[in-house]
Amino acid sequence: MPADVPVGSIAWLRASVARFSNGADHVRRRALAVDLLASVDADSLQFQAFSRTSRIMAELDVVDVMAEIARPVPVGVLAEVLGLPDVSADVAGVAAAYHPHVTPDAAAEAALTRLLAVCGGPAELAAARIGLLVQACDATAGLIGNGLLASLTGEPAEQPVLATRRRVGGADVTVSLAGTPFGAGPRACPGSRHALALAAGALAALRGFRLTETEISWLPSPNLRMPAALRVTRGETAGGFC
Ligand code: HEM
Repeated sequence: MPADVPVGSIAWLRASVARFSNGADHVRRRALAVDLLASVDADSLQFQAFSRTSRIMAELDVVDVMAEIARPVPVGVLAEVLGLPDVSADVAGVAAAYHPHVTPDAAAEAALTRLLAVCGGPAELAAARIGLLVQACDATAGLIGNGLLASLTGEPAEQPVLATRRRVGGADVTVSLAGTPFGAGPRACPGSRHALALAAGALAALRGFRLTETEISWLPSPNLRMPAALRVTRGETAGGFC
């Protein structure tokens, strides 16, 4: 348990997850994350992402895929298979404050307090579960947003995570991920199969929709490359052919 931070705070989360740990702490905490993920079947993630996405798309005429699908669906599905309620809104709040260069606001701290309450209180295993959800949040949203855009425009899909931050000797450093979307080596993403399954399920349910606008606005972020919003509607049925 990290000694120099308030227990249960965002600073505590950073000090308790594999992502910002080194040495033996990293090995132990990464093993917790890997074990949790090993209990999750990728095929069922794909199926659940497909059915949740289909349900949401059936209810709305015009859908901002980033807000309604890409962010909440992967986290909601992952939370469910990890035995948690749908905590996707709180995960998004914590994800925005997760990285060490961000000063967490009261809303992010409150979101983490609620997440810890459903995860059984501040312990390393709870941090590992929350860490999985937070790591899944932005990156998988990018996989879905960029994948959908590529399938609709015919352009190659953009890489959603361009760089990663690490904590080395107390300092925060940025490492480029050029050419390796899931990283490499002992810190490579342990959730890549799960992320691809979630994205495949969501994207399969988004077939047949078309963009409502031609201008795409991108998220203003140095490390993430994904649309800020992506509005779609059900495609016109081609008349006169077939
Ligand atoms: C189900 C979704 C996902 C889960 C559960 C997940 C989980 C994790 C975890 C726990 C780590 C920390 C590993 C460690 O420090 O040893 C990690 C790292 C990483 N993840 Fe994922 N991830 C997901 C989706 C993605 C996606 C979609 C991408 C990219 C497109 C991605 C890219 C990365 C990268 C590049 C790292 C390494 C960071 C570094 O080297 O510092 N992840 N992920």
